Amino acid sequence: MSLSLSAEKPDVPDDAADGVWLECIDCAETFAPFEDVRYTCDACDSLLEVRYADLPTFDDFEGRGVWRYADALPLESGVSVQEGATPLYEVPRLEEEIGLEALRIKHEGMNPTGSFKDRGMTVGVAVATELGADRLACASTGNTSAALAAYGSRGGMETLVLLPAGKVAAGKIAQASLHGARILEVDGNFDACLDIVQELAGQGEAYLLNSLNPFRLEGQKTIGLEILEGFRDDYGAFPDRIVLPVGNAGNTSALYKAFRELVQAGELDRDEVPKLTGVQAEGAAPMVEAIENGANEVRRWDDVETRATAIRIGNPVNAPKALPGIRETDGTAISVSDEEITVAQRTLAAEGIGVEPASAASVAGLRKLRAEGIVADDERVACLTTGHLLKDPDAAAAAGNDPEPVPAETSGVLEHLAE
Ligand code: F0G
Repeated sequence: MSLSLSAEKPDVPDDAADGVWLECIDCAETFAPFEDVRYTCDACDSLLEVRYADLPTFDDFEGRGVWRYADALPLESGVSVQEGATPLYEVPRLEEEIGLEALRIKHEGMNPTGSFKDRGMTVGVAVATELGADRLACASTGNTSAALAAYGSRGGMETLVLLPAGKVAAGKIAQASLHGARILEVDGNFDACLDIVQELAGQGEAYLLNSLNPFRLEGQKTIGLEILEGFRDDYGAFPDRIVLPVGNAGNTSALYKAFRELVQAGELDRDEVPKLTGVQAEGAAPMVEAIENGANEVRRWDDVETRATAIRIGNPVNAPKALPGIRETDGTAISVSDEEITVAQRTLAAEGIGVEPASAASVAGLRKLRAEGIVADDERVACLTTGHLLKDPDAAAAAGNDPEPVPAETSGVLEHLAE
């Protein structure tokens, strides 16, 4: 099975370029990486992965940010706005409340456009340049569109984003707009937007930069590499578990790929691989349903709803990569209510960490899994927070304190404070 944790070295196909090729996760058909535009397998239409003849060890990494890991990426450099190298915050109060040996928050909201999408875009836009693309496109719940707009313009390309009308947080639309994307508001949900943009890309209208694009996930692997290096430096050991919000399951797939490559390179023992633990909102939880039912396929949910609009997704395209990731690492998946998400958002804010609702799902899920005894108290855990508080100012204002009107004089302010 191609998606298992194995130390076996792959056979290098003739179509590899500098030791890099694309391979189908189902039928193992291989393709040259940069000759033609291709998102899925020509033979069976399944998902593709980037594969390498030589995998790096931790000693090979140097520098800071995503491109520190160039030896684990398909190109040596890319269109960059200094993405990656995000903080791995200590949260002593939350660690004690949840009751864990160690808890850290990997805050991806500290990337240049405020989400982890920048890591995928720096690599994806570089590949688009390599392929000679002049127009980039994505469907998005918001963050991908902000990152695509920023990295696309920096790379001198036209950008097109398809967003579900009325369901994208204000900060994200503002970013896509100012960074110069053409914003197409679709009368449908994210999954409908993705169907359309895949058809547009298939017809050669634009280069697709959703997480279906295997190159984007290469950039997102670096989240896992940074977390592992961070824990090793601070605790002398890797984390036992990584908890993350799940939408299209791109990060789940990317982190699993990072672990598989480290196992293959002899840098990580099988029993050291962190348990991938996915969290979805109750109103959009098809991955959780598949894990709970032991299913090999995810059922598409046509009606999805959650305040965490970033993960309001009913058809996770990377499920065939992510399901083995959760299972092979002995992880799990759980859903949380919008109320539990809001509570977790406040808890993180009380530690000085401002995140958008989807991000807080990871902490809400961890809290629930601890309460259910599924996560043990001697575990070292990393929670991924994927986007910044300012992405969704309306959700932040609704979850936080209301402003209090006061008169424009000190005595009036004092009177108000004394009330
Ligand atoms: N958290 C945030 C803040 C996101 O924006 C997304 C996805 C996810 C989590 C889910 O990550 O897809 O890797 O499981 N946002 C996409 C977008 C869909 O269009 O911005 P995943």
